[in-house]
Amino acid sequence: MNDKYPARHIAEEELMNAGRMNPGLWIGHSRYVAKACQIIAGLTDTMDEEKAYILGLMHDIGRRVGIVSERHLIEGYKYCKSKGWEDTAKICITHSFMIQDTKTSIGKWDVPEEEYIFMRDFVASARYDDYDLLVQLGDNLALATGFCLLEKRFVDTTRRYGVNEYTVARWNRVFEIKEHFEKLIGTSVYQVLPGVKENTFDEKKEP
Ligand SMILES: [Fe+2]
Repeated sequence: MNDKYPARHIAEEELMNAGRMNPGLWIGHSRYVAKACQIIAGLTDTMDEEKAYILGLMHDIGRRVGIVSERHLIEGYKYCKSKGWEDTAKICITHSFMIQDTKTSIGKWDVPEEEYIFMRDFVASARYDDYDLLVQLGDNLALATGFCLLEKRFVDTTRRYGVNEYTVARWNRVFEIKEHFEKLIGTSVYQVLPGVKENTFDEKKEP
């Protein structure tokens, strides 16, 4: 029994409670990130699809505290840590840093200085494994309405938050991560995620 992350039904309950505390598109997004992670992990020879699903589902759980920016990372970390879920705690921070440098983020650092310093050092010294990389990829393949082309999610995020000098480097890193998983699964991620075409090209209303 691995207790470094919650059981699936606990993770689902956590997300439901969080959705009551702070309703928003992030709930639907989290569900699709989880599904993307599960599907891709399930096609590798090395990854546990259940763990991938749960880490994907929980990556933004820090948003339970309300409408916040980068504070959601540390809130998710602290919350999961308090429950003893070390692996989910790590994902709550690492999912935003495909480049291991907190300077690259576009969000607002709405946290006390000591929390920023903690995250800066945590990210710089973290050892990323395939679960960290998979959630970074899944996060960029999922809108609240379903799976989409990476480029669509990039533009969606950039229209909301703007750009900085690291934007293109971050995009390039996500493309590299996509290629990494495509080598592991032997096909394009778009072949295995249902509805990419519909979600990318149809202007579905966000729920
Ligand atoms: Fe996310």
